[in-house]
Amino acid sequence: MYQFDISAGSKADLYRDLLSALDALTEGEPDPIANMANASALIAQYLPDLNWSGFYRLMDDELVLGPFQGKAACIRIPLGKGVCGTAASTRTTMVVRDVHAFPGHIACDADSRSELVVPIIHNGAVLGVIDLDSPVPARFDSEDAAGCEALAALLAERLG
Ligand code: SME
Repeated sequence: MYQFDISAGSKADLYRDLLSALDALTEGEPDPIANMANASALIAQYLPDLNWSGFYRLMDDELVLGPFQGKAACIRIPLGKGVCGTAASTRTTMVVRDVHAFPGHIACDADSRSELVVPIIHNGAVLGVIDLDSPVPARFDSEDAAGCEALAALLAERLG
């Protein structure tokens, strides 16, 4: 059993502790599916107000559903489509305050109101994305983006 000391204080403290927990969870484990599975569980447990947290992996120019926590989701997303495909094709973090206002948003859970997608990039190659959905409008801000970018940077090293 794992036990983590995760701060319930500021977002900066929360993401610092999450990064440290993710580091401990994935260190020395070479299997990318195991590492994504534990990362999605860790995020779902400690980040408040999420209804979906998980991964899409880039495979043959298409995003394919990876380990996640939440409702069953769409399996394949073409590059450039939806929030995930846009994040992967532009290699930029997407903070979407209102998913209904995002052209081409792909609804996997009707409860989702806002979304954060962070590309995972290793040695210049996009490996996939971290995707977080929330039922709360405008749930994610620049601190969430920075915190999840740090998680993605660590995972980029652990998904090879
Ligand atoms: N909403 C995403 C699709 C994935 S689900 O949110 C899990 C998108 O528009 O790419």
